[in-house]
Amino acid sequence: MLLEKIKKKELTITILGMGYIGLPTGVAFARAGFTVYGFDVDRDVISTLKKGKIHIVEPDLQEAYEEVLKSGKLLPTDKLEKSDVYIIAVPTPFKHSEDQKIADLKYVESASKMVGEILEENNLVILESTVPPMTTRLMTDILEKISGISREKFMSVHCPERVLPGRILYELEHNDRIIGAERYEATEVAKAMYGAMVKKGKCFATDDITAEMCKLVENTFRDVNIAFANELSMICDSLNINVFELIKLANKHPRVNILTPGVGVGGHCLAVDPWFIVEKFPKEATIIREARLINDFKPRFVANKIDKVLEGNKKMIVGILGLAYKPDIDDLRESPAMEIAEILRDKGYKIIACEPNINANKINDFELYSLEEIIKKADYLILAQGHTEFKNKIVKLSEKNIYDCIGLLK
Ligand SMILES: NC(=O)c1ccc[n+]([C@@H]2O[C@H](COP(=O)([O-])OP(=O)(O)OC[C@H]3O[C@@H](n4cnc5c(N)ncnc54)[C@H](O)[C@@H]3O)[C@@H](O)[C@H]2O)c1
Repeated sequence: MLLEKIKKKELTITILGMGYIGLPTGVAFARAGFTVYGFDVDRDVISTLKKGKIHIVEPDLQEAYEEVLKSGKLLPTDKLEKSDVYIIAVPTPFKHSEDQKIADLKYVESASKMVGEILEENNLVILESTVPPMTTRLMTDILEKISGISREKFMSVHCPERVLPGRILYELEHNDRIIGAERYEATEVAKAMYGAMVKKGKCFATDDITAEMCKLVENTFRDVNIAFANELSMICDSLNINVFELIKLANKHPRVNILTPGVGVGGHCLAVDPWFIVEKFPKEATIIREARLINDFKPRFVANKIDKVLEGNKKMIVGILGLAYKPDIDDLRESPAMEIAEILRDKGYKIIACEPNINANKINDFELYSLEEIIKKADYLILAQGHTEFKNKIVKLSEKNIYDCIGLLK
Protein backbone atom coordinates (compact mmCIF):
# COMPACT_ATOMS: atom_id res chain seq x y z
CA MET A 1 0.00 0.00 0.00
CA LEU A 2 2.76 2.46 0.93
CA LEU A 3 4.74 1.46 -2.15
CA GLU A 4 1.82 2.53 -4.31
CA LYS A 5 1.55 5.87 -2.45
CA ILE A 6 5.29 6.47 -2.89
CA LYS A 7 4.97 5.92 -6.64
CA LYS A 8 2.05 8.34 -6.88
CA LYS A 9 3.73 10.84 -4.49
CA GLU A 10 0.67 10.59 -2.26
CA LEU A 11 2.69 9.59 0.79
CA THR A 12 2.49 11.82 3.87
CA ILE A 13 5.50 12.13 6.15
CA THR A 14 5.72 13.67 9.61
CA ILE A 15 9.16 14.59 10.86
CA LEU A 16 9.71 14.88 14.60
CA GLY A 17 12.51 17.37 15.25
CA MET A 18 13.07 20.36 12.96
CA GLY A 19 16.77 20.79 13.73
CA TYR A 20 19.92 20.54 11.65
CA ILE A 21 18.80 17.15 10.34
CA GLY A 22 15.00 17.16 10.46
CA LEU A 23 14.52 20.50 8.69
CA PRO A 24 16.70 19.82 5.61
CA THR A 25 15.33 16.26 5.47
CA GLY A 26 11.82 17.73 5.40
CA VAL A 27 12.83 20.13 2.63
CA ALA A 28 14.40 17.29 0.60
CA PHE A 29 11.33 15.03 0.86
CA ALA A 30 9.03 17.99 0.09
CA ARG A 31 11.16 18.82 -2.98
CA ALA A 32 10.77 15.19 -4.03
CA GLY A 33 7.01 15.76 -4.12
CA PHE A 34 5.79 14.28 -0.82
CA THR A 35 3.64 16.15 1.69
CA VAL A 36 5.72 16.71 4.81
CA TYR A 37 4.63 17.90 8.25
CA GLY A 38 7.50 19.40 10.20
CA PHE A 39 6.81 18.97 13.91
CA ASP A 40 8.91 20.22 16.81
CA VAL A 41 8.24 20.48 20.54
CA ASP A 42 10.05 23.83 20.55
CA ARG A 43 7.33 26.36 19.74
CA ASP A 44 9.85 29.10 18.93
CA VAL A 45 11.29 26.90 16.17
CA ILE A 46 7.86 26.33 14.65
CA SER A 47 6.88 29.98 14.98
CA THR A 48 10.08 31.04 13.15
CA LEU A 49 9.46 28.44 10.43
CA LYS A 50 5.85 29.54 10.02
CA LYS A 51 7.12 33.07 9.38
CA GLY A 52 9.15 31.69 6.48
CA LYS A 53 12.52 31.87 8.21
CA ILE A 54 14.90 29.06 9.15
CA HIS A 55 16.61 29.12 12.56
CA ILE A 56 19.91 27.46 11.61
CA VAL A 57 22.80 28.51 9.40
CA GLU A 58 23.08 26.17 6.44
CA PRO A 59 23.97 27.20 2.86
CA ASP A 60 21.05 27.29 0.37
CA LEU A 61 18.56 26.04 2.96
CA GLN A 62 16.65 29.32 3.38
CA GLU A 63 15.85 29.54 -0.36
CA ALA A 64 14.96 25.85 -0.60
CA TYR A 65 12.76 26.13 2.49
CA GLU A 66 10.88 29.15 1.12
CA GLU A 67 10.12 27.21 -2.07
CA VAL A 68 8.57 24.18 -0.34
CA LEU A 69 6.73 26.36 2.15
CA LYS A 70 5.18 28.35 -0.71
CA SER A 71 4.23 25.21 -2.61
CA GLY A 72 2.51 23.87 0.54
CA LYS A 73 4.60 20.69 0.46
CA LEU A 74 6.29 21.36 3.81
CA LEU A 75 4.00 22.39 6.63
CA PRO A 76 5.59 23.40 9.95
CA THR A 77 3.34 22.47 12.87
CA ASP A 78 3.30 22.33 16.66
CA LYS A 79 0.69 19.57 16.56
CA LEU A 80 1.78 16.03 15.73
CA GLU A 81 -0.03 15.14 12.51
CA LYS A 82 -1.15 11.62 11.54
CA SER A 83 0.81 10.38 8.54
CA ASP A 84 1.85 7.28 6.65
CA VAL A 85 5.46 7.72 7.75
CA TYR A 86 7.12 9.20 10.86
CA ILE A 87 10.77 10.21 10.86
CA ILE A 88 12.35 10.74 14.27
CA ALA A 89 15.26 13.21 14.09
CA VAL A 90 15.63 14.29 17.72
CA PRO A 91 18.82 14.89 19.70
CA THR A 92 20.84 12.03 21.19
CA PRO A 93 23.30 13.70 23.55
CA PHE A 94 25.17 11.82 26.22
CA LYS A 95 24.99 11.96 29.97
CA HIS A 96 28.05 11.66 32.15
CA SER A 97 28.32 8.68 34.45
CA GLU A 98 31.28 8.01 36.79
CA ASP A 99 33.98 7.35 34.21
CA GLN A 100 31.95 7.04 31.02
CA LYS A 101 29.61 8.95 28.81
CA ILE A 102 26.39 7.13 27.99
CA ALA A 103 23.64 7.94 25.51
CA ASP A 104 20.74 9.97 26.82
CA LEU A 105 17.81 8.45 24.96
CA LYS A 106 15.08 10.51 26.60
CA TYR A 107 14.26 12.45 23.40
CA VAL A 108 14.06 9.25 21.32
CA GLU A 109 11.86 7.66 23.98
CA SER A 110 9.51 10.64 24.24
CA ALA A 111 9.24 10.98 20.43
CA SER A 112 8.51 7.22 20.15
CA LYS A 113 5.76 7.55 22.78
CA MET A 114 4.22 10.47 20.88
CA VAL A 115 4.19 8.46 17.64
CA GLY A 116 2.85 5.43 19.53
CA GLU A 117 -0.21 7.48 20.54
CA ILE A 118 -1.27 8.00 16.91
CA LEU A 119 0.30 5.00 15.17
CA GLU A 120 -1.84 2.96 12.80
CA GLU A 121 -1.30 -0.42 11.14
CA ASN A 122 1.03 -0.36 8.10
CA ASN A 123 2.68 2.90 9.18
CA LEU A 124 6.43 3.20 8.74
CA VAL A 125 8.48 4.70 11.58
CA ILE A 126 12.06 5.70 10.79
CA LEU A 127 14.67 6.52 13.39
CA GLU A 128 17.26 8.87 11.87
CA SER A 129 18.89 9.96 15.13
CA THR A 130 22.33 8.47 15.79
CA VAL A 131 21.92 5.83 18.47
CA PRO A 132 23.69 2.97 20.31
CA PRO A 133 23.05 -0.51 18.87
CA MET A 134 19.64 -1.99 19.75
CA THR A 135 17.89 1.41 20.09
CA THR A 136 15.67 0.85 17.03
CA ARG A 137 14.33 -2.26 18.82
CA LEU A 138 13.73 -0.12 21.92
CA MET A 139 11.76 2.31 19.73
CA THR A 140 9.72 -0.59 18.32
CA ASP A 141 9.03 -1.88 21.85
CA ILE A 142 7.71 1.55 22.88
CA LEU A 143 5.59 1.90 19.72
CA GLU A 144 4.14 -1.57 20.28
CA LYS A 145 3.39 -0.93 23.94
CA ILE A 146 1.82 2.53 23.53
CA SER A 147 -0.17 1.81 20.36
CA GLY A 148 -1.25 -1.71 21.26
CA ILE A 149 -0.39 -2.71 17.67
CA SER A 150 1.89 -5.72 17.37
CA ARG A 151 5.29 -5.12 15.68
CA GLU A 152 4.38 -7.36 12.72
CA LYS A 153 1.66 -4.88 11.74
CA PHE A 154 3.78 -1.73 11.42
CA MET A 155 7.30 -1.10 10.15
CA SER A 156 10.34 0.17 12.05
CA VAL A 157 13.51 1.25 10.29
CA HIS A 158 16.82 2.82 11.19
CA CYS A 159 18.18 5.11 8.49
CA PRO A 160 21.18 6.94 9.91
CA GLU A 161 22.02 10.42 8.76
CA ARG A 162 25.53 10.89 7.34
CA VAL A 163 25.50 14.47 6.10
CA LEU A 164 28.14 17.11 6.65
CA PRO A 165 27.00 20.43 8.17
CA GLY A 166 27.59 23.13 5.59
CA ARG A 167 26.66 20.73 2.76
CA ILE A 168 23.57 19.14 4.25
CA LEU A 169 21.09 19.72 1.41
CA TYR A 170 23.52 18.57 -1.25
CA GLU A 171 24.63 15.49 0.69
CA LEU A 172 21.05 14.51 1.58
CA GLU A 173 20.32 14.15 -2.11
CA HIS A 174 23.69 12.72 -3.18
CA ASN A 175 25.01 10.45 -0.39
CA ASP A 176 24.34 6.73 -0.22
CA ARG A 177 21.88 5.69 2.51
CA ILE A 178 21.95 2.67 4.78
CA ILE A 179 18.51 1.31 5.60
CA GLY A 180 18.20 -1.26 8.36
CA ALA A 181 15.19 -3.11 9.72
CA GLU A 182 14.17 -6.27 11.51
CA ARG A 183 11.58 -6.92 8.82
CA TYR A 184 12.50 -7.21 5.12
CA GLU A 185 9.26 -5.53 4.03
CA ALA A 186 10.15 -2.40 5.99
CA THR A 187 13.52 -2.01 4.23
CA GLU A 188 11.81 -2.34 0.85
CA VAL A 189 9.33 0.45 1.61
CA ALA A 190 11.98 2.73 3.13
CA LYS A 191 14.29 2.06 0.17
CA ALA A 192 11.58 3.13 -2.25
CA MET A 193 10.86 6.27 -0.22
CA TYR A 194 14.50 7.39 0.15
CA GLY A 195 15.12 6.33 -3.45
CA ALA A 196 12.51 8.86 -4.56
CA MET A 197 14.37 11.64 -2.70
CA VAL A 198 18.03 10.71 -3.19
CA LYS A 199 19.23 11.90 -6.61
CA LYS A 200 22.64 10.33 -6.96
CA GLY A 201 23.29 8.12 -3.93
CA LYS A 202 22.12 4.52 -3.64
CA CYS A 203 20.12 2.93 -0.82
CA PHE A 204 21.59 -0.20 0.76
CA ALA A 205 19.44 -2.51 2.85
CA THR A 206 20.60 -4.37 5.94
CA ASP A 207 19.37 -5.23 9.43
CA ASP A 208 18.73 -2.52 12.01
CA ILE A 209 21.71 -3.29 14.29
CA THR A 210 24.19 -3.23 11.39
CA ALA A 211 22.70 0.10 10.28
CA GLU A 212 23.10 1.52 13.80
CA MET A 213 26.70 0.30 14.02
CA CYS A 214 27.47 1.53 10.50
CA LYS A 215 26.82 5.16 11.46
CA LEU A 216 28.79 4.83 14.71
CA VAL A 217 31.71 3.13 13.00
CA GLU A 218 31.95 5.82 10.29
CA ASN A 219 32.33 8.57 12.87
CA THR A 220 34.55 6.50 15.11
CA PHE A 221 36.89 5.85 12.18
CA ARG A 222 37.28 9.61 11.73
CA ASP A 223 37.66 10.23 15.45
CA VAL A 224 40.39 7.60 15.86
CA ASN A 225 42.31 8.97 12.87
CA ILE A 226 42.05 12.56 14.11
CA ALA A 227 43.24 11.38 17.53
CA PHE A 228 46.35 9.96 15.85
CA ALA A 229 47.03 13.36 14.24
CA ASN A 230 46.36 15.19 17.51
CA GLU A 231 48.63 12.83 19.43
CA LEU A 232 51.38 13.50 16.85
CA SER A 233 50.88 17.26 17.32
CA MET A 234 51.56 16.93 21.05
CA ILE A 235 54.63 14.72 20.48
CA CYS A 236 55.97 17.18 17.85
CA ASP A 237 55.49 20.03 20.30
CA SER A 238 57.82 18.26 22.75
CA LEU A 239 60.30 17.64 19.93
CA ASN A 240 59.99 21.28 18.84
CA ILE A 241 59.25 20.31 15.24
CA ASN A 242 56.36 21.36 12.98
CA VAL A 243 53.67 18.68 12.94
CA PHE A 244 52.09 20.00 9.75
CA GLU A 245 55.37 19.72 7.87
CA LEU A 246 55.93 16.25 9.31
CA ILE A 247 52.50 15.07 8.15
CA LYS A 248 52.91 16.65 4.71
CA LEU A 249 56.16 14.75 4.24
CA ALA A 250 54.85 11.46 5.68
CA ASN A 251 51.85 11.68 3.35
CA LYS A 252 54.23 11.64 0.36
CA HIS A 253 54.34 7.88 1.03
CA PRO A 254 51.87 6.23 -1.37
CA ARG A 255 50.04 4.33 1.39
CA VAL A 256 50.03 6.94 4.16
CA ASN A 257 47.29 9.51 4.62
CA ILE A 258 47.48 11.16 8.03
CA LEU A 259 44.75 13.69 8.82
CA THR A 260 45.35 17.25 9.99
CA PRO A 261 45.52 17.96 13.72
CA GLY A 262 43.38 20.70 15.21
CA VAL A 263 42.06 22.08 18.48
CA GLY A 264 40.23 18.87 19.29
CA VAL A 265 37.06 17.26 18.03
CA GLY A 266 33.67 18.87 18.47
CA GLY A 267 30.11 18.76 17.27
CA HIS A 268 27.22 16.51 17.97
CA CYS A 269 28.59 13.50 16.09
CA LEU A 270 32.30 12.72 16.19
CA ALA A 271 32.72 13.80 19.81
CA VAL A 272 29.69 11.80 20.90
CA ASP A 273 29.07 8.74 18.75
CA PRO A 274 32.17 6.68 19.67
CA TRP A 275 30.98 6.72 23.30
CA PHE A 276 27.86 4.82 22.16
CA ILE A 277 30.11 1.89 21.24
CA VAL A 278 32.26 2.22 24.38
CA GLU A 279 29.07 2.25 26.47
CA LYS A 280 28.00 -1.13 25.13
CA PHE A 281 31.48 -2.68 24.89
CA PRO A 282 33.62 -1.14 27.64
CA LYS A 283 36.12 -4.03 27.67
CA GLU A 284 36.61 -4.37 23.93
CA ALA A 285 36.53 -0.74 22.75
CA THR A 286 39.95 0.31 24.07
CA ILE A 287 41.35 2.15 21.02
CA ILE A 288 38.02 3.90 20.58
CA ARG A 289 37.99 5.09 24.20
CA GLU A 290 41.64 6.20 24.11
CA ALA A 291 41.07 8.18 20.90
CA ARG A 292 38.15 9.99 22.51
CA LEU A 293 40.27 10.86 25.54
CA ILE A 294 43.12 12.19 23.35
CA ASN A 295 40.75 14.39 21.34
CA ASP A 296 39.02 15.56 24.51
CA PHE A 297 42.40 16.51 26.02
CA LYS A 298 43.58 18.58 23.04
CA PRO A 299 41.79 21.86 24.03
CA ARG A 300 43.46 21.74 27.46
CA PHE A 301 46.81 21.06 25.79
CA VAL A 302 46.35 24.14 23.56
CA ALA A 303 45.23 26.31 26.50
CA ASN A 304 48.24 25.23 28.59
CA LYS A 305 50.53 25.92 25.64
CA ILE A 306 49.16 29.46 25.22
CA ASP A 307 49.51 30.05 28.97
CA LYS A 308 53.16 29.03 28.67
CA VAL A 309 53.79 31.17 25.59
CA LEU A 310 52.27 34.20 27.34
CA GLU A 311 54.30 33.38 30.46
CA GLY A 312 51.19 33.68 32.60
CA ASN A 313 50.87 37.41 31.81
CA LYS A 314 47.17 37.87 32.55
CA LYS A 315 47.16 41.42 31.21
CA MET A 316 47.25 40.00 27.69
CA ILE A 317 44.01 40.05 25.72
CA VAL A 318 43.65 36.76 23.87
CA GLY A 319 41.53 36.68 20.71
CA ILE A 320 40.14 33.37 19.51
CA LEU A 321 39.53 33.08 15.79
CA GLY A 322 36.66 30.66 15.30
CA LEU A 323 34.46 29.37 18.11
CA ALA A 324 32.37 26.94 16.04
CA TYR A 325 33.50 23.34 16.00
CA LYS A 326 34.32 23.26 12.29
CA PRO A 327 34.84 25.65 9.36
CA ASP A 328 32.03 27.86 8.04
CA ILE A 329 29.23 26.81 10.38
CA ASP A 330 27.58 28.39 13.45
CA ASP A 331 27.35 25.21 15.55
CA LEU A 332 28.99 25.48 18.98
CA ARG A 333 28.05 22.07 20.33
CA GLU A 334 30.97 20.33 22.07
CA SER A 335 33.20 22.96 20.46
CA PRO A 336 36.86 22.55 21.50
CA ALA A 337 37.59 26.22 20.67
CA MET A 338 34.93 27.21 23.17
CA GLU A 339 36.60 24.99 25.74
CA ILE A 340 39.98 26.67 25.11
CA ALA A 341 38.29 30.05 25.64
CA GLU A 342 36.77 28.87 28.92
CA ILE A 343 40.00 27.32 30.26
CA LEU A 344 42.01 30.48 29.49
CA ARG A 345 39.29 32.67 30.99
CA ASP A 346 39.38 30.54 34.15
CA LYS A 347 43.15 31.00 34.23
CA GLY A 348 42.51 34.76 34.37
CA TYR A 349 43.00 35.93 30.79
CA LYS A 350 40.66 38.36 29.07
CA ILE A 351 39.24 36.41 26.13
CA ILE A 352 37.55 37.90 23.11
CA ALA A 353 36.52 36.09 19.94
CA CYS A 354 35.71 36.39 16.27
CA GLU A 355 33.05 34.03 14.94
CA PRO A 356 31.92 35.26 11.51
CA ASN A 357 29.09 32.70 11.33
CA ILE A 358 27.30 34.02 14.40
CA ASN A 359 25.51 37.34 14.37
CA ALA A 360 25.70 38.42 18.02
CA ASN A 361 27.70 40.73 20.26
CA LYS A 362 28.48 38.06 22.80
CA ILE A 363 28.58 34.28 23.19
CA ASN A 364 28.46 33.21 26.84
CA ASP A 365 31.01 35.52 28.49
CA PHE A 366 32.94 36.26 25.34
CA GLU A 367 32.58 39.50 23.41
CA LEU A 368 32.52 38.99 19.64
CA TYR A 369 34.34 41.22 17.18
CA SER A 370 34.86 41.36 13.45
CA LEU A 371 38.19 40.11 12.14
CA GLU A 372 39.46 43.66 11.61
CA GLU A 373 38.47 44.66 15.15
CA ILE A 374 39.94 41.61 16.88
CA ILE A 375 43.24 42.00 15.02
CA LYS A 376 43.48 45.50 16.55
CA LYS A 377 42.17 44.64 20.02
CA ALA A 378 43.91 41.34 20.86
CA ASP A 379 47.53 41.07 22.03
CA TYR A 380 47.67 37.43 21.02
CA LEU A 381 45.54 35.43 18.58
CA ILE A 382 44.65 31.76 18.45
CA LEU A 383 43.72 30.48 15.01
CA ALA A 384 41.31 27.75 16.05
CA GLN A 385 39.14 27.22 12.99
CA GLY A 386 39.67 27.40 9.23
CA HIS A 387 36.74 29.69 8.37
CA THR A 388 36.87 31.05 4.80
CA GLU A 389 37.10 34.62 6.09
CA PHE A 390 40.30 33.76 7.97
CA LYS A 391 41.76 31.95 4.97
CA ASN A 392 41.10 35.04 2.83
CA LYS A 393 43.03 37.24 5.29
CA ILE A 394 45.81 34.77 5.98
CA VAL A 395 48.61 37.20 5.00
CA LYS A 396 47.31 39.81 7.42
CA LEU A 397 46.99 37.20 10.17
CA SER A 398 50.52 35.91 9.70
CA GLU A 399 51.85 39.38 10.60
CA LYS A 400 50.32 39.09 14.10
CA ASN A 401 51.35 37.28 17.27
CA ILE A 402 49.36 34.16 16.56
CA TYR A 403 49.23 30.48 17.53
CA ASP A 404 48.12 28.42 14.56
CA CYS A 405 46.35 25.25 15.73
CA ILE A 406 45.32 24.12 12.24
CA GLY A 407 48.37 24.63 10.01
CA LEU A 408 47.02 27.44 7.83
CA LEU A 409 49.94 29.83 8.26
CA LYS A 410 53.13 29.30 6.36
N1 LIG B 1 23.70 17.83 13.02
C1 LIG B 1 24.35 16.94 12.28
O1 LIG B 1 25.20 17.30 11.48
C2 LIG B 1 24.05 15.47 12.37
C3 LIG B 1 24.60 14.60 11.42
C4 LIG B 1 24.28 13.26 11.47
C5 LIG B 1 23.44 12.79 12.47
N2 LIG B 1 22.92 13.65 13.40
C6 LIG B 1 22.04 13.10 14.42
O2 LIG B 1 20.71 13.51 14.12
C7 LIG B 1 19.97 13.68 15.34
C8 LIG B 1 19.37 15.07 15.37
O3 LIG B 1 20.42 16.01 15.40
P1 LIG B 1 20.21 17.55 15.07
O4 LIG B 1 21.58 18.09 14.87
O5 LIG B 1 19.19 17.72 14.02
O6 LIG B 1 19.61 18.07 16.46
P2 LIG B 1 18.95 19.52 16.76
O7 LIG B 1 19.14 19.76 18.21
O8 LIG B 1 19.44 20.51 15.77
O9 LIG B 1 17.40 19.30 16.47
C9 LIG B 1 16.61 18.42 17.18
C10 LIG B 1 15.23 19.01 17.32
O10 LIG B 1 14.39 18.01 17.92
C11 LIG B 1 13.43 18.69 18.71
N3 LIG B 1 12.78 17.70 19.59
C12 LIG B 1 13.20 17.15 20.74
N4 LIG B 1 12.31 16.24 21.20
C13 LIG B 1 11.30 16.21 20.30
C14 LIG B 1 10.08 15.48 20.17
N5 LIG B 1 9.72 14.57 21.07
N6 LIG B 1 9.29 15.72 19.12
C15 LIG B 1 9.64 16.64 18.18
N7 LIG B 1 10.76 17.37 18.23
C16 LIG B 1 11.59 17.14 19.27
C17 LIG B 1 14.24 19.76 19.39
O11 LIG B 1 13.41 20.79 19.88
C18 LIG B 1 15.16 20.23 18.26
O12 LIG B 1 14.61 21.33 17.54
C19 LIG B 1 20.96 13.39 16.47
O13 LIG B 1 20.84 12.06 16.86
C20 LIG B 1 22.30 13.62 15.82
O14 LIG B 1 23.32 12.87 16.45
C21 LIG B 1 23.20 14.97 13.35
